[in-house]
Amino acid sequence: MNTPIMSVDDLHKSYGRGQNRFDALRGVSFGVHEGESIAIVGKSGSGKSTLMHLMALLDAPSSGGIVLEGVDTGTLRGSRLNRTRNRTFGFVFQQFFLTGNTTVLDNVVLPMKIAGIGRAERRRRGLAALEQLEMEGKARSKAADLSGGQKQRVVIARALVNNPRILFADEPTGNLDSQTGAVVEDILFTLNREHGITLIVVTHDEDLAARCDRRIFLRDGLVVEDSAAVAA
Ligand SMILES: Nc1ncnc2c1ncn2[C@@H]1O[C@H](COP(=O)(O)OP(=O)(O)OP(=O)(O)O)[C@@H](O)[C@H]1O
Ligand SMILES: [Mg+2]
Repeated sequence: MNTPIMSVDDLHKSYGRGQNRFDALRGVSFGVHEGESIAIVGKSGSGKSTLMHLMALLDAPSSGGIVLEGVDTGTLRGSRLNRTRNRTFGFVFQQFFLTGNTTVLDNVVLPMKIAGIGRAERRRRGLAALEQLEMEGKARSKAADLSGGQKQRVVIARALVNNPRILFADEPTGNLDSQTGAVVEDILFTLNREHGITLIVVTHDEDLAARCDRRIFLRDGLVVEDSAAVAA
């Protein structure tokens, strides 16, 4: 098989110190191939969000490393790290809320502002992303005034504006009713299949996990099953 876009190598992550130390990841390794859709599944507290935060370079491992497009990400600092994250990844995380008192469009263009893209281009790409999610009609609305499913679609639009190669989603359908969840799910898989965006999703939703090419099961900070390894 071709070289993975990302390799996760023997990741350990501990929180706290001394008696309060908790080993959330205890040696996790796998490769991610471009265009794959991967579900990270496991019980609450098994380390799913911790793993996703490390993969998204939002937090550093206690030991082990991540190679992204041939670059050892442990060597990235400051603006190079931010640029890599901002250019390569899109985030659909519940903790990355929209700013409620600004417009939908302002929220969506934020990653491009960070990337230093000019105002007209930001606006053009922001509106195009909203259109892709059928949310262009709400571009001028205050983000706070949207329904839950609409907010989630705006979060996805914002995740897309920098043309990410990898989209990370943590419980993308978790707070949505099943019908709206299905719409969001379809959007994610369309992006994966038609645009070749690698999709890495943490989910408790078995149907969503089943739709992914591959499922990685975590238990107590270890991979206990990887459906790609079974198939190989
Ligand atoms: N900042 C932190 N400080 C201390 N412990 C933490 C911290 N973040 C996570 N943990 C612990 O690490 C373990 C893994 O947490 P994580 O958030 O990765 O679980 P999860 O699999 O995403 O769970 P859930 O399905 O409930 O979201 C948990 O036992 C949690 O209490
Ligand atoms: Mg979690």
